[in-house]
Amino acid sequence: MTESTPIPRPLQDPPAGRARSASPPTPRLRLDQVCKTYPGSPPLTVLTRVSLEVMPGEDLALVGPSGSGKTTLLSIMSSLDRPTAGEVWIDGLKLADLGPADQARLRAESIGFVFQQFHLLPTLTAWENVAEGMLYSGWRRRRRREAAMTALERVGLTARADHRPSQLSGGEQQRVALARAIAGEPRLVFADEPTGALDQAAGRRVADDLRAIAASGTTVIVVTHNQELADRFSRRLSLLDGRLVADERRPDDGGRPVAAAEPGGGDPGGGGRPGGERRPDDG
Ligand SMILES: Nc1ncnc2c1ncn2[C@@H]1O[C@H](COP(=O)(O)OP(=O)(O)OP(=O)(O)O)[C@@H](O)[C@H]1O
Ligand SMILES: [Mg+2]
Repeated sequence: MTESTPIPRPLQDPPAGRARSASPPTPRLRLDQVCKTYPGSPPLTVLTRVSLEVMPGEDLALVGPSGSGKTTLLSIMSSLDRPTAGEVWIDGLKLADLGPADQARLRAESIGFVFQQFHLLPTLTAWENVAEGMLYSGWRRRRRREAAMTALERVGLTARADHRPSQLSGGEQQRVALARAIAGEPRLVFADEPTGALDQAAGRRVADDLRAIAASGTTVIVVTHNQELADRFSRRLSLLDGRLVADERRPDDGGRPVAAAEPGGGDPGGGGRPGGERRPDDG
């Protein structure tokens, strides 16, 4: 006889009293047939009909060779850039319908950014750098300090709160940048090559922090060249020449990597979980 095990809870419970058959949850992010062409002679098409949905609390890696359009796609998903054709929605809000002021507010309130270079201000301490990221929140300094300390705690840097960037390792500086990205409790975090300037161990630590942030309900989208790092995320999107060629979800087995995408041959529609091929655990 087995004892009854608790049923895993969804990331967001349906509102009490509402039937399960109610309308499906709104994707945190939705792209429909997104295209990007830069003008010139000849014009340069960088993204071709990219469509996808990302749900709250997902963590995903966006991979692809240099020049495949990863940064361009990230910029469009995060409202920093506009597609030439196609539409982007964040939490059901169509970005094309928002004016510049509303877009700026959306970015300030709902989106956190992390870049390869940490972009910390050298004269400020760790907590001051994190608090600086909330300048547009309208919060008073004391509340910003509290939020900064909470964010630093989430990335394990409470003891370094009063250190300046020059007194921190590269990995620690990037985790301060991560704390700055999440301190305002955004719904989405975008990171472009966040481990590109770090060694492997520091990169893993940043990836683990990003996954922990996603586990708390924030949607996390990370661009990376690094396959080993991409394997740490639950879902992997592969871009090739501006087209989405694979969308794979890792079996929920507590950390094993997904099967490798078959170049040109796979199942870009995501019609099922990738099957057998597994790489050995690297510890
Ligand atoms: N503002 C621009 N004007 C014209 N072409 C651009 C512009 N920005 C990017 N491109 C081109 O678009 C293509 C995709 O660039 P993008 O930066 O998105 O690639 P990426 O996948 O992020 O590459 P990497 O891994 O090297 O960062 C490249 O060929 C690039 O030269
Ligand atoms: Mg790039």
